Amino acid sequence: MRPENPAQLHSPKQPPFADCPDRHHTGAEKWDRYADRRSADGREIIPFWVADMDFRSPECVLEAIRRRTDHAVFGYTHDTPGFACSLTDHLHRQHGWAIDPAWVIGVPGIVSGLAVTARLLTAPGDGIASFTPVYPPFLFLPRLADRRSVQLPLVADMQAGRWSIDWDDLEQTLAGDPTITLFWLCQPHNPTGTVFSHDDLLRLADAAERHNLTIISDEIWCDLVLDEDSPHIPFASLDHPAARRAITFVAASKTWNIAGLGCAAAIVPNERLRKNWRAAGGGLVPMVNPLGYAASEAAWREGDPWRLDLIDLLRTHRRLALDTVAELPGISCIAPQSTYLLWLDCHTWAAAQPPGRADPQRACEAAGIGPSDGREFGSPGCLRLNLGCPTSRLEEGLRRLRQAFSPPPVQP
Ligand SMILES: Cc1ncc(COP(=O)(O)O)c(C=O)c1O
Repeated sequence: MRPENPAQLHSPKQPPFADCPDRHHTGAEKWDRYADRRSADGREIIPFWVADMDFRSPECVLEAIRRRTDHAVFGYTHDTPGFACSLTDHLHRQHGWAIDPAWVIGVPGIVSGLAVTARLLTAPGDGIASFTPVYPPFLFLPRLADRRSVQLPLVADMQAGRWSIDWDDLEQTLAGDPTITLFWLCQPHNPTGTVFSHDDLLRLADAAERHNLTIISDEIWCDLVLDEDSPHIPFASLDHPAARRAITFVAASKTWNIAGLGCAAAIVPNERLRKNWRAAGGGLVPMVNPLGYAASEAAWREGDPWRLDLIDLLRTHRRLALDTVAELPGISCIAPQSTYLLWLDCHTWAAAQPPGRADPQRACEAAGIGPSDGREFGSPGCLRLNLGCPTSRLEEGLRRLRQAFSPPPVQP
């Protein structure tokens, strides 16, 4: 349905984030998970898990989709010229990174793109390293491709209020296992929201050079940095030989809320790898759909005012959530520098619970809030909370979070 006055949706006086369509019965993965379950007192469990937002996409994206559907022919479609060019302009404007549009390959999702890199650049049995906790496919995809996931835990520096890399662990792990030939870097990092610094990235590039490692940088969250003093730096933009070999993934999907349209980009500077790309994904990775191309192009070209409004809102949501978490005994959190995700460490809370009542995920669900379980990220005892929803819903979720963790707890 067209809004009465599309321009109003962008007006700061009428922000587009308050009034969200009902997603029940639309096949929304996020909402369907709890369709048949209730909280301990019989309420609907509000989903705060999978990383999509409940907001309408911006009008420029909707209009581009309408234009494409008006064309009315949806045959097999390869990368449109506008897709690579709009991404190239966006990366240059937003992140100061100059790429050649010829490096861009449209992919129907970053997860399948990561799987392609495993097949393209490693042999069965090889190790693929990542910083953990991490977005679950980083942990399970290697196994599906007959490779091994090698976990390098990030260190929570509560004093400094940030996550840091354990460089000794990294060095020892890489030195001790020459079959680790690929590093899947998630930056900004999901679930912690860490934006790695220039020094971190350079040090990682040096390690990659010493240990003959290819860096695959998943930068899907790069346009949702909340901290002004921590700009996102594309790994491949570094002036470093390891950066020139790197493959980068980006997408408009997280920022402009179009994940269901199945469209992302691999940026592959190496011509030989680009040639081999399709063969490595052959029979497994389908083509991108034409609506995904149209929506992504519009988002990169015209979506910045909406993105900036969204960032303002997410900063407010981060503040609200952190204030709540600060009141919860035994729950700790390092403020995310980016994303709409909050990573909660519930170990201290769990240690104080009676046996059988120490599962934070179950405690939350009993109180009517459904976060992501840290187990899936390699960190049992932690939770990830998705703040990408209307403020009123977040406030209700935070009330329920208090109920889950404040004494006396709601019993699962
Ligand atoms: C770091 C990261 N990479 C990839 C994805 C998913 O990408 P896609 O839907 O393009 O496969 C997500 C989704 O949350 C993510 O957080």
